[in-house]
Amino acid sequence: ATGCAGGGAGGGGGDGVITVGFAQTGSESGWRSANTESMKEAFSEANGFNLIFNAADNKPEAQIAAVRSFINQGVDAIVLAPIVTDGWDDVLKEAKDANIPVILEDRTVSASEDLYASWIGLDFKKEGETAGKWVADNFGSTPTNMVVLEGTTGSSAATDRAAGFDAAIEGTDIKVLDSQTGNFTRADGKTVMEGFLQKYGSQINLLFAHNDDMGLGALEAIKAAGMTPGTDIKIVTIDAVKDGMTALSNGEFNYIVECNPLLGEKTAEVVKKVVAGESVDKSYIVEDQAFDQEQAKKVLDSRPY
Ligand code: AHR
Repeated sequence: ATGCAGGGAGGGGGDGVITVGFAQTGSESGWRSANTESMKEAFSEANGFNLIFNAADNKPEAQIAAVRSFINQGVDAIVLAPIVTDGWDDVLKEAKDANIPVILEDRTVSASEDLYASWIGLDFKKEGETAGKWVADNFGSTPTNMVVLEGTTGSSAATDRAAGFDAAIEGTDIKVLDSQTGNFTRADGKTVMEGFLQKYGSQINLLFAHNDDMGLGALEAIKAAGMTPGTDIKIVTIDAVKDGMTALSNGEFNYIVECNPLLGEKTAEVVKKVVAGESVDKSYIVEDQAFDQEQAKKVLDSRPY
């Protein structure tokens, strides 16, 4: 593998060690920290890997540059958690030309399927649908004003969650007052929610946040405005990280759809197979659960992240 005698692309380099370049999005959320940890654990030396880790601070250009640098270093495989869906064709073709397999993790790309070996991730559309269905069942027959904190614009996580959620609330009495990106971060969730509160005040009955962190940021804005989160404004989020589940158990959130960040083990297994020339499926979808307040109280202590 790279960095060792006889190293380079194409199958482990003879020393058995697989050099993997992992292009992570950044460190925007609690989910992302748990995902990075899961990946680092699975791609450990003890497990036969030499991991080159890059976090792109959620800047698509920086992430493309990281992938290009992995190609130049002649790694055995590239794992990519794409920040956004579009813009990958050229660099994925370059990887293919260099015989370096690319395995997608977490989010998806719009590029042709021939340009990557496999994808390990979550069904974001279903996550949105599950959240939307809960909202429709609980608030759909009373006039309800909702605001939405969207994830990173152009990411499959945000696009697909929105599509699933919107389809599920169609035909209900839920009205979307406003919908803006909070970039999956706590800080932006807070700032955007402050803006919503200034503009719409007590008209807001419901918040759908595409992840826990933005919901947690919004909590601060709601409390600062003198309102009670979970009561005056109902809050539905996605992820189910510890802080989110704590807010749900405390009654400050109302419902969370899980997004499982523990993708490392499956991804490492797929990378090993691909590098060994074995056949793999084009996609592996990891199952998610969903929790209301009572269910959250029961599982909170046993959550691993
Ligand atoms: O792509 C998964 C999403 O990215 C998570 O829901 C969010 O928290 C993260 O930043």
